[in-house]
Amino acid sequence: MPETDMSEAATALPPVAEIFNPHSPEYMNDPVPQCLALAERGPIVWYEPWQAWIITRMEDVMACWKSEPLSSDFYDWEFAPERPPQDKWSNFERAMIGHSLLADHGHHRLVRKVVSPAFSRNVVDKIQEKIKPDVEKLFDELGTPETFDYIEEIAQHIPFISITRMVGIPEKYWPEIRKVILTFTETWNPTISDEQREAARQDCNKAIDIILKVIAERRAQPEQDDFLSTLLKIEEENENFEEWDIVTLVLALIGAGADTTLVAQQWSVYTLVQHKDQVATALASPDAFSNAFSEINRWGVSSKMGFARYAPEDMEFMGQQLRKGVMVLMMPHLKDYNPAYYENPETFDAERVFEPDAMFGYGPRFCIGAALAKRQLYLTMCELFRRFPDIELAEEPERDPDDHNAIVFKRLMVRTNA
Ligand code: HEM
Repeated sequence: MPETDMSEAATALPPVAEIFNPHSPEYMNDPVPQCLALAERGPIVWYEPWQAWIITRMEDVMACWKSEPLSSDFYDWEFAPERPPQDKWSNFERAMIGHSLLADHGHHRLVRKVVSPAFSRNVVDKIQEKIKPDVEKLFDELGTPETFDYIEEIAQHIPFISITRMVGIPEKYWPEIRKVILTFTETWNPTISDEQREAARQDCNKAIDIILKVIAERRAQPEQDDFLSTLLKIEEENENFEEWDIVTLVLALIGAGADTTLVAQQWSVYTLVQHKDQVATALASPDAFSNAFSEINRWGVSSKMGFARYAPEDMEFMGQQLRKGVMVLMMPHLKDYNPAYYENPETFDAERVFEPDAMFGYGPRFCIGAALAKRQLYLTMCELFRRFPDIELAEEPERDPDDHNAIVFKRLMVRTNA
């Protein structure tokens, strides 16, 4: 029984599953006591319900991010579907196994290095210019209702707008690609059923067909000012970077950029409308907002799962014996209300100093889309508060128990007072 929590047995503490359950209504309504209680259990804790180890302390999470002792490849998970042989690969496996950003550390670093020009400030500025009219149009269509659901009317459209604009997917493909953008992360979500994952995988194969078509069209008509054209230039200049790397990367952007943006939109509005005295400070500039957003994220504590890694072999790790394939979850959010890390953690302070600021990760797998994510949020929040300076919550939003990764709202009704 390698994963018994010895301290639990020795001191007769209640089982970890009794003090920490991110799928419980109590966690959804106030995750803080459970996060603090879990961190109290020690630096690495076995979590029976998910058959996973949890790294609870920030220093260890940072070390793990930095030196990557564990695998990021979903197929290394002990309960993942079997990695199919190469002659049975569909496009999905080709993108996810063959050239995956999620797999081999060496290839991952190469991909990150060669694609970095595509994420430069200059490119983000240009992408922002393209997204701006779409965001303004959304608000124009909304008009000035007395109340509205921010998620339905605005937030749920933003990931789609920014990813399609960023990548340069023409509008004719939008209806087909829309669904995949919302379900793609399900293809490797360890907490959902095999059937649900398979349905997402099939949708993903359809999306890959579209991405391949868009790439072919862009090759025939290059020199457009978007991410795909930049990647095609990079492909020309780097022999180890090829078409399937581009497909993988576009999928990674969809996977990593859709849910996160949706959650960030909800929590930014929820937090700022309740701290209107700090809105001007938070939105004073893109840099000011960048810091305020870390505080929004800290104050809200929306994460349920943290970030998954897998033991690549039987190994010793942080004093524990890990079996090959076991999941290890890094949970940086456990510290968010810990007074050892933050003074007056209950207080929202848009100018709080974060050292380090690791809300977009750290090290080799630092979020590729961080600049874009913050910019699109900044743009949307500026538009919202410009149009509705007196906006307030119309009700305390009900949490949605169906989301496995994050605390999100079923709807977010706001009163415009316009
Ligand atoms: C507020 C929104 C976002 C947050 C909080 C966020 C946060 C993060 C974090 C913490 C990681 C590291 C994950 C890990 O170590 O396992 C990450 C990775 C990543 N993010 Fe984001 N992200 C956001 C939005 C975006 C957007 C909009 C995009 C793309 C358009 C994006 C693309 C990526 C990619 C591709 C990776 C994987 C990088 C790699 O493995 O090298 N993210 N993100």
